[in-house]
Amino acid sequence: MNISSLSAEEAQELKKAGKIAAQALEFCKKNIKKGSNMLEAVKKTDQKILDMGGHPAFPSQISMDQIAAHFCPVKNDNPVFSGQLLKIDIGAHVNGFIGDNACTIDLSGENNDLAEASEDALKNAIKAIAPGVKICEIGRIIQETISGYGFSPIRNLGGHGLGRYSIHEKPTIPNYDNGDQREINEGDIFAVEPFATKGHGVVIETSNPTIFSFIKNKPVRDNTSRQILNEIRNYHNLPFAKWWLEEKYPSFKLNFALKQMANMGIIKEYPPLADSGSGLVSQAEHTILVEDKARILTAAED
Ligand code: CO
Repeated sequence: MNISSLSAEEAQELKKAGKIAAQALEFCKKNIKKGSNMLEAVKKTDQKILDMGGHPAFPSQISMDQIAAHFCPVKNDNPVFSGQLLKIDIGAHVNGFIGDNACTIDLSGENNDLAEASEDALKNAIKAIAPGVKICEIGRIIQETISGYGFSPIRNLGGHGLGRYSIHEKPTIPNYDNGDQREINEGDIFAVEPFATKGHGVVIETSNPTIFSFIKNKPVRDNTSRQILNEIRNYHNLPFAKWWLEEKYPSFKLNFALKQMANMGIIKEYPPLADSGSGLVSQAEHTILVEDKARILTAAED
């Protein structure tokens, strides 16, 4: 998406979404303490987004250790914070315009360098961004920064363009030099999202998805599926959390309905993504707008 295609009002909504996402990330960080549980933290954060006048662009999620992304707690899998390496990924939208940001918290105190590697890669990438810079150049900078710490970037995850009600659009902003010679333009809006790992640098899907999105409508027979379908269509095609529905439907009916709708192609599953070598993973992310240089839309303060 390019800001030139937005009205003045829409551009304001985009900027507001960035602010909300950034403040929600700060809020979530403050709510993470050893001994407290994850469901409570994400619940409060999603509510904070609503309180600030936004909506979650995807469920607030906290992925631990070798899981890079897409972990969201549910009632019967609700981790307690102890010494994990946490990736907090928060997105907010206002009228469909999205701010997406993430950071890493090391509760063990032993992996600060890994957390710093992705943070530093993000900083260096942002510093280099300007109209005319090649996409592969951003990837090269991320790769070199992370390698400089002795870790590997995750190659099959990356930054992404953002559209209205759409989180993953072109272009992909790679975490390595992928040879993409296209140049970024003034007005482009995208997320830069380096991941650093001590493992293989490739993520694979694991099991038990707890995040889904609506794809297309088809008739379903049972009542619960019909009710859920009506509800999730309100999220447009943006991802939703299983726990959002757990408060309203009995577990066995909900599990059945989600499985059935996934099999029928009505919803898409987003299973947690783990490094294939089971290495620890860190992440950092900002949404940026390309002006004469990169302007960070997900800065918590001006
Ligand atoms: Co993102």
